[in-house]
Amino acid sequence: MNQIFRKKSMAGLLEQSGKKELSRSLGLLDLIFLGVGCVIGTGIFVITGVVAAESTGPAIMISFVIAGIACALAAFCYAEFSSAVPVSGSVYTYTYATIGEFFAFLIGWDLMLEYVLAISAVATGWSAYFQSLIKGFGLQVPAALASAPAMGQGGLINLPAFIIILVITALVSRGVKESIKFNNVMVFIKLAVILLFIFAGIGYVKPENWTPFVPFGFEGIVTGAATVFFAYIGFDVIATASEEVKNPKRNMPIGIIASLLICTVLYIAVSGILTGMVSYEKLNVADPVAFALFSVGQDKIAGVISVGAVAGITTVLLALIYAQVRLSFAISRDGLLPETLSKVHKKYKTPFSNTWLTGIIAASIAGFVDLTTLAHLVNMGTLAAFTLVSIAIIVLRKKFPEIKASFRVPFVPVFPLISASFCLYLALSLPKITWVSFVIWIALGVIVYFTYAKKHSHLN
Ligand code: ALA
Repeated sequence: MNQIFRKKSMAGLLEQSGKKELSRSLGLLDLIFLGVGCVIGTGIFVITGVVAAESTGPAIMISFVIAGIACALAAFCYAEFSSAVPVSGSVYTYTYATIGEFFAFLIGWDLMLEYVLAISAVATGWSAYFQSLIKGFGLQVPAALASAPAMGQGGLINLPAFIIILVITALVSRGVKESIKFNNVMVFIKLAVILLFIFAGIGYVKPENWTPFVPFGFEGIVTGAATVFFAYIGFDVIATASEEVKNPKRNMPIGIIASLLICTVLYIAVSGILTGMVSYEKLNVADPVAFALFSVGQDKIAGVISVGAVAGITTVLLALIYAQVRLSFAISRDGLLPETLSKVHKKYKTPFSNTWLTGIIAASIAGFVDLTTLAHLVNMGTLAAFTLVSIAIIVLRKKFPEIKASFRVPFVPVFPLISASFCLYLALSLPKITWVSFVIWIALGVIVYFTYAKKHSHLN
């Protein structure tokens, strides 16, 4: 019993963060770009359409606000942790130091599910815009290779999604610096096309499209919030990069909160304009943002937006693969997962085999599972992580009052408790099948912990 609650020493963690294993090369702007790069993607470009059509109507704007509040509450907790303990592994490491090994392993296990499936989900959205883009040039991916079997469109595999993951994997496996530079350029393009959509679309908004505003009732808004929550996932990824950030105590909290704020404003604007341009009933398409512009005759701008979406969603993939690798790297470094996952490549100085393993698994899932199923599971995993990180803040304050984080969550324990309850509330409106799959994954994690991790833990 004592063993499963054993903790990493806070002093050890702080010392480890002072040692240089991975190089500290990211500045504040890199960090905000990494955050925005990881956040704005398939969620706003794709999922918005289905949610507006099926759950919320124009009230999707309110769903974005609700999901944004849940994220902001959790973001505060992430910010305190990442400024107090700036090491790889994010919430996994925080839990290890505060609550204990067993829960830390489970949350790491949960996050691995989240990140891997998120990589797959995002690639599916990439594939949708890629296909919309090449259609403009009269090209088409054969139906059998265009979508996952579950979509009922005669697909056998989503080949574009499969391939893009492997391409990005190759990039990430060769080193942070190159990838970050590439990321910054792509994020810039992404922000530009979102602003382009806002300015081009605003003139076509017909206020009558906003009535009825809440066609599916309040329940629809909450279900919508639990689904569009996906669009915010990624700001927590910044926290996994702490070991590679310059001056993390100052830069981490600013980076996390700034990226979240930028995204919230953009999401409300985009979803408002989208539902104002076309009736929400028509938005159940794979590329709603381009579709809205097509339907008002702005084909050229729609084309530009598709190029931007493809570029923009690519950066999300990049950041998520990066996050998954850093996380499993941290877990493996502690002995809880096999050592190969934390081997650093001699030439590229990256966890090379780990990156490829991640890429191959995510690519295979992206080929065969549909977006909505993936997004729900990802949200479930993330909400669980947010709940735990909120609780861990309360433990941190109680057990380690001597640690003075440069950023502190206000009104502890009230604030973290509200954050945890809010996440739980959203998770409860996810479909039953999501809960079942999640419980099975966690049960598997418990088995792996007791048959492997507990024995091989370096704390043993
Ligand atoms: N937030 C990320 C996206 O929407 C996962 O693509």
